[in-house]
Amino acid sequence: MNEGAGVSEAAANIGVVGLAVMGANLSRNLASREGNTVAVFNRSPQRTEALVAAHPEAQFVPAFTYEEFAASLQKPRTAVIMVQAGAATDATIDALVDVFEPGDIIVDGGNAYFPDTIRRERAVRATGINFVGAGISGGEEGALNGPSIMPGGSDEAWQTLGPILRSIAAVAEGEPCVTHVGHDGAGHFVKMVHNGIEYADMQLIAEAYDLIRRGTGKSPAEIADIFAEWNDGELESYLIEITAEVLRQNDAATGKPLVDVILDQAGAKGTGAWTVQTALALGVPVSGIAEATFARSLSSHPEQRAAASSLPGPSEQPAVADEAAFIEDVRQALYASKIVAYSQGFDEIRAGAAEYGWTIDLGAISRIWRAGCIIRAQFLNRIADAYAAESDLALLMSAPYFAEALAKSQEAWRRVVVHATGAGIPAPAFSSSLAYYDGLRAERLPAALVQGQRDFFGAHTYRRTDRPGSFHTLWSGDRSEISA
Ligand SMILES: NC(=O)c1ccc[n+]([C@@H]2O[C@H](COP(=O)([O-])OP(=O)(O)OC[C@H]3O[C@@H](n4cnc5c(N)ncnc54)[C@H](OP(=O)(O)O)[C@@H]3O)[C@@H](O)[C@H]2O)c1
Repeated sequence: MNEGAGVSEAAANIGVVGLAVMGANLSRNLASREGNTVAVFNRSPQRTEALVAAHPEAQFVPAFTYEEFAASLQKPRTAVIMVQAGAATDATIDALVDVFEPGDIIVDGGNAYFPDTIRRERAVRATGINFVGAGISGGEEGALNGPSIMPGGSDEAWQTLGPILRSIAAVAEGEPCVTHVGHDGAGHFVKMVHNGIEYADMQLIAEAYDLIRRGTGKSPAEIADIFAEWNDGELESYLIEITAEVLRQNDAATGKPLVDVILDQAGAKGTGAWTVQTALALGVPVSGIAEATFARSLSSHPEQRAAASSLPGPSEQPAVADEAAFIEDVRQALYASKIVAYSQGFDEIRAGAAEYGWTIDLGAISRIWRAGCIIRAQFLNRIADAYAAESDLALLMSAPYFAEALAKSQEAWRRVVVHATGAGIPAPAFSSSLAYYDGLRAERLPAALVQGQRDFFGAHTYRRTDRPGSFHTLWSGDRSEISA
């Protein structure tokens, strides 16, 4: 099949390199849109041959060398890389740079860490070729039917790329789920935070399930009904919907609920950790995302869990007197904690934009997450409304809609955290979100004492509430205060 596959004229307006599940589906999605002719290339030719044979309707233009691939593309050439993140991406970029020309566009649609994207963009730009790091969310299904796309890169690249990406993106309320996020690594940064929020959302849902199961003794199938009902209200989202599906599933081999035979050790591919590491470096408290990431780590240490299994829990279990009221409390606690997780995530994007010099429209980000991605939810419309009313909102959870929702649910939230603590049920994301809420709204924080301690052992100085300047107490002297 390689024979004769050489392309004598530039027939394609877009190309895809890397034809594993994501690349193959994205190629098919591109080919299905009016006006697109798609060139396809994969390091191992078998994948290219298999894709072209399986989908004659797509009329792919196959290429078997990078030279053929470049020759098959109209100028400016535009190619989307969908290969393994890391070294494979670097190798593919180098190969494309060798055969592309100034003005052409290389898009990395993989899950790159944003500092890598910043580095790659700088290196590729020096050759005159445009480089766009684009976060693509929605997994295999999204790639095929319409993902949420978060492209970075230059304005020039966006001119060419925008219409193509708009044609393949998911659509929410008539709007394609793609926006030019900002320059260089902005797209992959936003995709990273998207994944961090996804971690928090999943952990919060898991805690809600655990609290209801242990508090009421309901079966997974019964709890599936509760989640299905919640999905008709303000919690409506893809993750709530699939939670009901997972809880309803029985294991064919044992007849037990599938959730009871799945090993309770959660995996991670690292985007949650990146979100938390980046937030730590930026000084942004993303406690919900961090707790969710740590909860996965905690679950995956069987030796420590075995060692801790004999440690005592509460001697008495708090009773759940009114099941319906308890379940409603858990729903409200979930909604409140979710508001905190999103508020923290948007805060990280705001801080990242300030640090890296990106102009990011937070309202546009919430709108492109409404379809095609894993955290798609009704709720994102409320976030879009909040940023439409005040684009430089300092704190999402203080916007009127969210402030009101938190005011309505905070008592229930506290009851749930008290119940969890009393019953010895771990609810780290629920409780840390509540602590964050209380921390931010506190008039005075014990940070004053921390400053005193820092000054005592390290002469780090402190500021006073009643006059400007920095001060130090002569702790090992006469304990008088001096200006520092
Ligand atoms: N799977 C998902 O749900 C999902 C969701 C969002 C984003 N992503 C991202 O999308 C990208 C593709 O994901 P995937 O699951 O489809 O594939 P993958 O398993 O991550 O990567 C396989 C692809 O990478 C190619 N590859 C590996 N090493 C290479 C090298 N040194 N040079 C050139 N090509 C090389 C493979 O080519 P060969 O066939 O020759 O081995 C194959 O086409 C990844 O960055 C992933 O993180 C995945």
